[in-house]
Amino acid sequence: MTTVKHVATTPFDGQKPGTSGLRKKVRVFQQPHYLENFVQAIFDSIGDVAGKTLVVGGDGRFHNRSAIQTILKMAAAAGFAKVMVGKGGILSTPAASCVIRKYKTFGGIILSASHNPGGPDEDFGIKYNIPAGGPAPEGVTEAIYARTTEINEYRILDVADVDIESVGDRSLGGMAVTVFDPVADYAELMGSLFDFDAIRALFAGGFRMRFDAMHAVTGPYASVILEDILGAPKGTVMNGIPLEDFGHGHPDPNLVHAHDLVEEMFGPDAPDFGAASDGDGDRNMILGRDFYVTPSDSLAVLAANATCAPGYAKGLAGIARSMPTSAAADRVAAALGIKSYETPTGWKFFGTLLDAGLATLCGEESFGTGSDHVREKDGLWAVLLWLNVLAARKQPVADIVREHWAKYGRNVYSRHDYEGIDTAAANGLMDHLRGLSLKGQTLGAYTVAFNDDFAYTDPVDGSVSTKQGIRIVFEDGSRIVFRLSGTGTEGATLRVYIEQYEPDPAKHGADPQDALAELIKIARDVAEIEARTGRSEPTVIT
Ligand code: G6P
Ligand code: ZN
Repeated sequence: MTTVKHVATTPFDGQKPGTSGLRKKVRVFQQPHYLENFVQAIFDSIGDVAGKTLVVGGDGRFHNRSAIQTILKMAAAAGFAKVMVGKGGILSTPAASCVIRKYKTFGGIILSASHNPGGPDEDFGIKYNIPAGGPAPEGVTEAIYARTTEINEYRILDVADVDIESVGDRSLGGMAVTVFDPVADYAELMGSLFDFDAIRALFAGGFRMRFDAMHAVTGPYASVILEDILGAPKGTVMNGIPLEDFGHGHPDPNLVHAHDLVEEMFGPDAPDFGAASDGDGDRNMILGRDFYVTPSDSLAVLAANATCAPGYAKGLAGIARSMPTSAAADRVAAALGIKSYETPTGWKFFGTLLDAGLATLCGEESFGTGSDHVREKDGLWAVLLWLNVLAARKQPVADIVREHWAKYGRNVYSRHDYEGIDTAAANGLMDHLRGLSLKGQTLGAYTVAFNDDFAYTDPVDGSVSTKQGIRIVFEDGSRIVFRLSGTGTEGATLRVYIEQYEPDPAKHGADPQDALAELIKIARDVAEIEARTGRSEPTVIT
């Protein structure tokens, strides 16, 4: 006989989930009742859970397994009929979205702090995804938060842990626990979208690739899909074993953190294609031999070539990008005669467009690319679409991108980050920019067409989001965008996005830092970056 324990508790401050859920240090989550309060708040806020099925899994970081045991015992106490758990607690964020949709569950709980480091002194996170497969919208996260501020009791089964290390059906106090292979459903979905035979033939022909899983969740997915199913040689996947601390790494697929991969791709005898994904598998970075594809260009190239893949053969309904992402994808949309959408930063803004069938592909400059196949961005999906394009076009990555620029022009692009600056100074800088009226003014060689603080009205549900980033747009279409990071953990991070359209193929080979030098200087001057932050140079340039 299992008994439901009613445990008295008091609210914790600051359990306000952002769009990516509640992210805190592991030590915060390890406080007695901390996780339990939040999980109970989820269950209390999402409607009647009795008899329903929930998906649970995470990116494998430290505290994943123990959190899953707590969630299982609380789900049973709450009356769920069944919980589906990824074997070993593993489930990438896009795979979670896939499974929630495929089995029409009552949503899922994903345990991840994305690309943030893991380990006892690092980060942990939890978020609820809705039955459509995407992150909970603000109405739901607000309700969860409100519940955390008044909670006085949670309910949990008083039972031993259930085995989640092997696939199988178990029972936990009357609730079914199905431990499933976290890769299978996702791999099947990928197989339905892409021409696996063509990709198999590509590898069989000697095409060489490296995929850096960064000791995070995509290791098992990439090993099965790339090596076992598609026949890439063993060893194609590097850092493929998920580790609780990601091997002391920072599982963020960019030129700085994916250093093993970058060294290989820019070294002697580099493979044809390189890619990496982040902690929970939703981000991606794409490299060719000696060539880096910016996320903005990647979206544009994938959009222009998507019909190579069976899943997109009938064409795209529309293309959506976040505002700071370069306008390269807009040019593809215009050429295809389809609509392009410009949304605020954050994957959640694509949800309504995807649900309404207005957009098929979406992308963000922050290494996010995806489509309507799930409701999260999807790192491995982007890699497979690239492979499908490479298999169809049989050209090097660099040639494909250069041909793309020759056809559409190049949106030369760079992002400058000023990390860990004083929060008050950062806010002051943004207020200063907000107060400027620059229309008609000449800055260097550029005349300002308009400047504003980006506001967005969702074309599907009419919701309005304001203060989404300062834009200074020039008459030739060049732009400078300023926004403060919503994901930083220490102080504030100012992001400056600089973009200039270059139609002349003779100039496409220039280093973006050189080509954009004047705009970069204008950005620093207009925002008074050095005077206000004390920083004369950005900390990261991508
Ligand atoms: C998360 C979201 C992305 C978003 C990014 C922005 O990764 O999932 O959709 O683009 O944050 O990060 P930032 O630090 O620029 O606010
Ligand atoms: Zn992520």
